[in-house]
Amino acid sequence: MIKFITGGKSHGKGLFTTLRGIPAGLSINVKGINIELKRRQAGYGRSRRMKIEKDKVEILSGVRLNKTTGRAITLAIWNKDWQKRKSGPINVPRPGHADLPGAISYNQKNIRKIWERASARETAARVAAGAVAKKLLKEFKIEILSYVVEIGGIKADKHGSLVNSLKRKIKKIDDSPLRCLNKESEKKMMKKIDEAKKKGDSVGGVFEVIVFNIPVGLGSYIQWNRRLNAKLAAAVMSIQGIKGIEVGLGFNSAREFGSQVHDEIFYSKNRGFFHKTNNAGGIEGGMSNGEPIVLRAAMKPIPTLANPLNSVNLKTKKPAKAPVLRADVCAVPAAGVVGEAMVAIEIASAMTEKFGGETLQEMKLNYEKYVKYVRNF
Ligand SMILES: Cc1cc2nc3c(=O)[nH]c(=O)nc-3n(C[C@H](O)[C@H](O)[C@H](O)COP(=O)(O)O)c2cc1C
Repeated sequence: MIKFITGGKSHGKGLFTTLRGIPAGLSINVKGINIELKRRQAGYGRSRRMKIEKDKVEILSGVRLNKTTGRAITLAIWNKDWQKRKSGPINVPRPGHADLPGAISYNQKNIRKIWERASARETAARVAAGAVAKKLLKEFKIEILSYVVEIGGIKADKHGSLVNSLKRKIKKIDDSPLRCLNKESEKKMMKKIDEAKKKGDSVGGVFEVIVFNIPVGLGSYIQWNRRLNAKLAAAVMSIQGIKGIEVGLGFNSAREFGSQVHDEIFYSKNRGFFHKTNNAGGIEGGMSNGEPIVLRAAMKPIPTLANPLNSVNLKTKKPAKAPVLRADVCAVPAAGVVGEAMVAIEIASAMTEKFGGETLQEMKLNYEKYVKYVRNF
């Protein structure tokens, strides 16, 4: 299984991640990781910080001559906007951020110490780790993509039923300002972001993540903590600002008859067992069922507002306005990229759990044997 942790802070020396469980012999290059880091920094509605930080990774351990060694992989992203000098304390917590519970729990009146780590700048390290996981998944032709389906209440057309043709379209997504497939809706979404910015406000939204070419049987029905949907939901919910997750039809499945929700089972010699619909979002009984995995995540509006909300000074206990700081107005497109990374890590982890092996070669042999077994089932 793959495990990873992150370290570092927003205005410290950098962000770091250490991953273990990646088999030996996987090709890794810095360029591939940097492409993912750049994707996280894009998107209409981001703050000026994104222009300051041009995130680049340095591989500190676990890779030799561009191949993983099987030992822990440590990646560093050095901050340009690193504050060597001490900045003054901030004592007013922002509503919606980690500031107040963090200050109380960690006994800090200076909330700067809390937000330095609670900030979603930490997600740069996750995206770097996710790039390694994606590289492993590519060896098995598993691809993960994301796009924005809603911002500030403006919905793009439904894309769920287009899942298979999306694969071709999706490559263009990163070139669009909001990583959205529907150009008309995207324009309206951008207007909504402009409107929010003008008012010193912020907006949230929804992104979808799709995993293609996933083998049947990842995860397990045997134990609650081995269910793939639960693991994916926890991974995506751990992203700063994410407030809800749906798998497949999600909440809508609670509103329909069973006959309209469940995906009927078919068999052909070429395809083996398959479904013509994918309302389950590729997961049944806590296991992948061979169809693309489809997840949607809801992100709340950014808590740091240019027109700040009411709060209380932690020292004086007097009412005060929340601090105004450099912040994104909308970060849903970037959150989608982080979502891809978290999903990649969980799927890669499930793949190593099922197919094991110290080396990529050994893992591939196990995988191929399993694919053959499934074909003949
Ligand atoms: C990619 C990304 C960028 C974000 N940018 C900001 C930001 O600039 N300012 C801010 O206050 N929150 C930002 N957030 C959201 C906060 O980090 C998040 O709301 C906060 O840590 C509190 O956590 P919670 O919303 O999960 O409760 C961002 C989140 C993500 C995923």
